[in-house]
Amino acid sequence: MVEETKQVTGYLLFSLSTAVIGSLQFGYNTGVINAPEQKLRAFFNSTWMERYGRPIEPGMCTIVWSFSVAIFSVGGMVGSFSVGVLANRFGRKLSMILVNILAVIGGLLMGFSTLCSSYEMVIAGRLVIGLFCGLFTGLTPMYVGEVSPTPLRGAFGTLHQLGVVVGILVAQIFGLESLLGSEKLWPLLLALTVVPAVVQCILLPFCPESPRFLLINQNKEEEARKALVRLRGSEDVSKDMQEMKEESAKMAMEKKVTIPELFRIAAYRQPLLIAVMLHLSQQLSGINAVFYYSTGIFESAGVTQPIYATIGAGAVNTVFTVVSLFLVERAGRRTLHLIGLAGMAVSALLMTIALLLKGYSSLSYLSIGAVFLFVAMFEMGPGPIPWFIVAELFSQGPRPAAMAVAGCCNWTANFLVGVSFPKLEELCGPYVFIIFLVFLIFFFVFTYFKVPETKGKTFEEIARDFGGTLPPVATSAEAPPTGSGGTLPASPIKEKV
Ligand code: GLC
Repeated sequence: MVEETKQVTGYLLFSLSTAVIGSLQFGYNTGVINAPEQKLRAFFNSTWMERYGRPIEPGMCTIVWSFSVAIFSVGGMVGSFSVGVLANRFGRKLSMILVNILAVIGGLLMGFSTLCSSYEMVIAGRLVIGLFCGLFTGLTPMYVGEVSPTPLRGAFGTLHQLGVVVGILVAQIFGLESLLGSEKLWPLLLALTVVPAVVQCILLPFCPESPRFLLINQNKEEEARKALVRLRGSEDVSKDMQEMKEESAKMAMEKKVTIPELFRIAAYRQPLLIAVMLHLSQQLSGINAVFYYSTGIFESAGVTQPIYATIGAGAVNTVFTVVSLFLVERAGRRTLHLIGLAGMAVSALLMTIALLLKGYSSLSYLSIGAVFLFVAMFEMGPGPIPWFIVAELFSQGPRPAAMAVAGCCNWTANFLVGVSFPKLEELCGPYVFIIFLVFLIFFFVFTYFKVPETKGKTFEEIARDFGGTLPPVATSAEAPPTGSGGTLPASPIKEKV
């Protein structure tokens, strides 16, 4: 074990950092739309004036605005669902390079929208960027998992969520009026996503293809060995090669499950329900109402410098993601998820009180405190846990299909919150967070009664918890898995934690 931890080489860190640019991009594009809301609304209005000679109606403006925000998730739904096909066909490295073309197209569409007086270009750009991000929410974790040494796979796996939160924070800072959030420069703020895409394309050719992909998917043993030698900085990679061959053999023994089968086979029903519900709890908690719209929320709560409160939320988010990295391996997943949901419910209640009492200026701090607590509690459990628990609930065969279904549900719920929040806010006024409070209570009750603790358990034990055994294994490998990539890293719970 000690010997294996030494396998962290500069080249491995370089390759991981290059891949995590994809997570940063996902975070950046999630957070970037928040600060320039008023500038975008003004742009919609001026385009409308130019075309129809009258100002846009407020209702229509809200629709166009929420569409620009939420269409991102429609792209994400499609992207997250199709990542497996791409990654298995072109390999992980080439897929990442190709997918970056989408960032360039999307960035340019948004960047030139004002020059072309077209708000449709903002919407189209956000759709393309969403597709790009959906693909990267699969590609980055897959590549990171596949190049990392086995004992460090869990630790490096968390780099994805860390990349996401840092990306959100960077977007919020760049969105400052004095930086790129001004009336003139906001198109540049949205187009900036092109820069990391180009940087990643320059760096990727120096990274290795995933050795696991080379060996397991392509049967190129010598190339896989060469890639490993460079990554591990040692000629002796026999241990890694052996482990990969074992994984390959295990995969060949377990029947790969397609998405329709996942729904049909009784033994998968319960874990699938749990996986989907946990992903829904992540999004329907309302987290992205904050990350897309917090500047507006703070404004309605009477905060005078809402952008700084938004940046504060991004900073709290980053700090608590780091905190949860340490907690998640000590406390159980179930406990942390429950604490997170309960804490978010309390914060939603505080938020409602703050919005109701907005007349009292001293209480504007309450809204800031409530949002900070909301975000901190999110990162305790509902933020990171759903992303990795699906891999724990499913074994090698059904895992790619389960990840595709869960990822797609996540993006769908993300879309629903994004598209409906501004309208709901208009309709419910200060009571809008009560909707999330109801969801949070519902998911708390569900988690309490239905979600077992998975920490430290083997697949067999988890299957027994669900009152069933795993379906019989097939004799040979069948068609490539649907949805997510074929060679997902072995689940951390295979080894007792
Ligand atoms: C998770 C969610 C994402 C959200 C982010 C906030 O990664 O999937 O939608 O924006 O956390 O930190």
